[in-house]
This record gives sequence, C-alpha cells and structure tokens, in this order.
Amino acid sequence: MHRWKHKKILLTFSIIIVIGASAFIMSANHSAIDFNTQVKPILNKKCIVCHGGVKRQGDFSLLFRIDALSKAKSGKLAIVPGDPVHSELIRRITLSDPEDRMPYKQAPLSKEEIEVLRDWIKQGAKWGDHWAYVPVQDMPAPGLKSSAWHDDIGIGWAKNEIDHFIWDKMKPMGLKPSPEAPRATLLRRVSLDLTGLPPSPAQAAAFPPHP
Ligand code: HEC
Repeated sequence: MHRWKHKKILLTFSIIIVIGASAFIMSANHSAIDFNTQVKPILNKKCIVCHGGVKRQGDFSLLFRIDALSKAKSGKLAIVPGDPVHSELIRRITLSDPEDRMPYKQAPLSKEEIEVLRDWIKQGAKWGDHWAYVPVQDMPAPGLKSSAWHDDIGIGWAKNEIDHFIWDKMKPMGLKPSPEAPRATLLRRVSLDLTGLPPSPAQAAAFPPHP
C-alpha cells in the first residue's frame, strides 16, 4: 500500500473519532429539562388550545399527566416516558406534511422546541406541579463552595446570597455588575421607592457621601 493511502486511512479514522467524541460530549451535555419553565410554555403556547380542557382533539389532552400518558384516538401513546422514538407526539411534531404535523396546520415547532420535548420525554416526561403548590425548599446559593466561581468580580462583588444567584446568571451571559451608584442616588432611589417622594434635606444629611 502507498504511504498516502495509510495517511488517508489514518485521517478518516481521526475524523470518525473526533465526530464520535463530540457527539458523545454533546449528548452528555443535554441538561435536565424542567417541566414548568421549559416544557409547559411550549405546550401552553402551541398545543393547549386544541389539546386541553374543553377541546381534546384526537382524544388527546395535555392538561394533566394522566391524560397525556393515556392512549389517544388512534390507539397510540402520544408520550411514552423514556422513549421518544415510540412517542406519537414526537413523530407528529416532526412530520413534513402540514396536514399531519402538529401544531395542526400551523408553523412547525422550532428545532430547539422539538429538542426540549424530545429530551423531556427521554428523561421520563416528568410533570411539574404548579410552583405555588411546591413546598419552599432551601436552595444553596451558587458558588459558595466552589473556588472556580470566585473569579473575576464574583465573590468580591457579592454582598449576600441573593448576589450569588444574580452573578451566577450574569456570568455566562458575559454581563458585569454596574459600579455602585453614589450614595445620594441610592438615597433618592430608596426614598422614591418607599414614599414616592425625594428624600428630605434632613435625611440627606443623615446619609452623607462617603468621606
Ligand atoms: C389547531 C388545533 C391543534 C393544535 C394547535 C395542535 N393540535 Fe394536535 N391534533 C389536532 C387535531 C384536529 C388532531 C386529530 C386529527 C389528527 O390526528 O390529525 C390532533 C392530533 C394530535 C395527536 C395524535 C392523537 C392520536 O390520535 O394519536 C397528537 C400526538 C397531537 N395532536 C399532538 C399535538 C402537539 C404536541 C401539539 C403542539 C405542539 C398539537 N398537537 C397542537 C389539532 C391540533
């Protein structure tokens, strides 16, 4: 065999390995889907008018989990927890014929929306209770224990645990906290917030600018 042929085979193998590895990393990266914040908005916006409450087109309702997991008119299961491939819902939202595709006779769901629904079913199609009925839980502030979190402004800027939650969302967006406003401005803001009026001269004198 010629040398260039060896090289070609080697190159092909490397490409396959790289593609395989990135596919693996990407699939591992699919994070846990949250029903209330990710799935429900799609269903409410795109499906519920025809599949919930009063209207149950195709004998299929998305209002409660027990209904959504029951057999629809066709005799098929729209949602098979853990198994998107055998979930009729996924088949119906990915068809190309607008007569058969859901949402019925409307623009198809976006790629991202389809991925969310697919991942959600793959992860067991968990239903979320309305947040008002979920007991309050202690939620550890992000970054309190991790040293990687402390970079840039992070920890130096954060004055309390609420700041930790805020910085945790700002950082991945590339946002930086604004510099603190002058004390006179802070006083004016809090006064307008609490009383609807600017601070009195006496209050301003009691809250002087930093020496
Ligand atoms: C404008 C009304 C409308 C909207 C919006 C709509 N559907 Fe449907 N859907 C229908 C009708 C009508 C049928 C029954 C006829 C059929 O099966 O094509 C149906 C049937 C279905 C079925 C098959 C039930 C069976 O018998 O197997 C599934 C699954 C489904 N819809 C899912 C969805 C999902 C998911 C959405 C949102 C992304 C959606 N639909 C949005 C009208 C709608």
